[in-house]
Amino acid sequence: MSEPGPSTRVVRAGLPDPEQGEPFLPGPVFAAPFHFTGAPSESPATYGRYGNPTWARYEEALGSLEDAEAVLFSSGMAAVAALLLTQLRPGSVLAMDHGCYHSVRLLARTYFEPRGVELRLAPPAELAEAAEGADLLWMETPSNPALEVYDVAALTKGDAVTVADNTTAGPLLQRPLDLGADYSLTSATKHLSGHADLLLGYVTTRDPERAQALRAWRTHAGSIPGPFEVWLAHRSLATLALRLERGCDNALAIARLLATRDDVTGVRYPGLPSDPGHEVARRQMSGYGTIVSFDLGSPERAERFLAAARLVADATSFGGVLSSAERRARWGGDAVPEGFVRLSAGCEDTADLLADVESALDASA
Ligand SMILES: Cc1ncc(COP(=O)(O)O)c(C=O)c1O
Repeated sequence: MSEPGPSTRVVRAGLPDPEQGEPFLPGPVFAAPFHFTGAPSESPATYGRYGNPTWARYEEALGSLEDAEAVLFSSGMAAVAALLLTQLRPGSVLAMDHGCYHSVRLLARTYFEPRGVELRLAPPAELAEAAEGADLLWMETPSNPALEVYDVAALTKGDAVTVADNTTAGPLLQRPLDLGADYSLTSATKHLSGHADLLLGYVTTRDPERAQALRAWRTHAGSIPGPFEVWLAHRSLATLALRLERGCDNALAIARLLATRDDVTGVRYPGLPSDPGHEVARRQMSGYGTIVSFDLGSPERAERFLAAARLVADATSFGGVLSSAERRARWGGDAVPEGFVRLSAGCEDTADLLADVESALDASA
């Protein structure tokens, strides 16, 4: 059989071999201590902070999507913190893309800079230079919320250890490890789980020692996921390719619509040939994602648009089956205009979603 396609891979990812009378995906295992006699190495499970069979199955599934080892955490930010804390020491230099997720920059500024880590923030064209002599290079591509595209293959050529935050794309649309990154990080709160009902995050790496160091961090820091969330996320993984197919189609259709309107500016979607990141995205992504960003000119108009839309929930986050959008400047922390909107295209019928976005734009004008 030739290489299985993405849908074929996700419906089976991490499932145990068939056994008479057993379910396809075994239910979540809830346990703090497990029965265990003798040395820890003599028992498959010991204590719930060290490991859990429900995590192990989902980690196997996630790892299989990037041909790597996956280490799961209680949220995307717990995964970010684990990477930064295991890589950086006083005196380390961290080069970071200037528009990465605001909590990541906040974490670096609040907890690392005061402890003697030098932080160098740079836009796409200057990140390679900023990374000269750095210990860790952090890039998020496409970035949230501005959707700037970073050239992973070019940026991983230097000496720094490299991390690509792959959250806006996810492992089916972009494989940073194939492009040379040492670590790929994903918030599974978004597309991976897809139903806006849980938070999880994970890191993948092809270096077993690096994976082990992250597991040790998780065990001792206790940033562990709950088995029920993990089981729900594993269950949702089966539809990831289908959901992405519809979400990407919807995002492209919305981006095209927005690009035709004189009353919308600054439309960003890496799938538009006119987008500044398109050429790099075309080389390194197999789909352009479900997020579109644009500027409605004023906070008032952006709020009117969000209030008028019926199929687009006014909510943060992205990657769910239900479309959502928000006026990003309400949070502060991102260098975006006051009327900037980040929209996450869900799995609604394309014609319905387009009609809704168009009528909300008209109503808000
Ligand atoms: C690019 C990116 N990385 C990391 C995170 C953090 O993930 P979580 O909310 O699961 O902690 C987010 C959350 O929005 C994100 O957008």
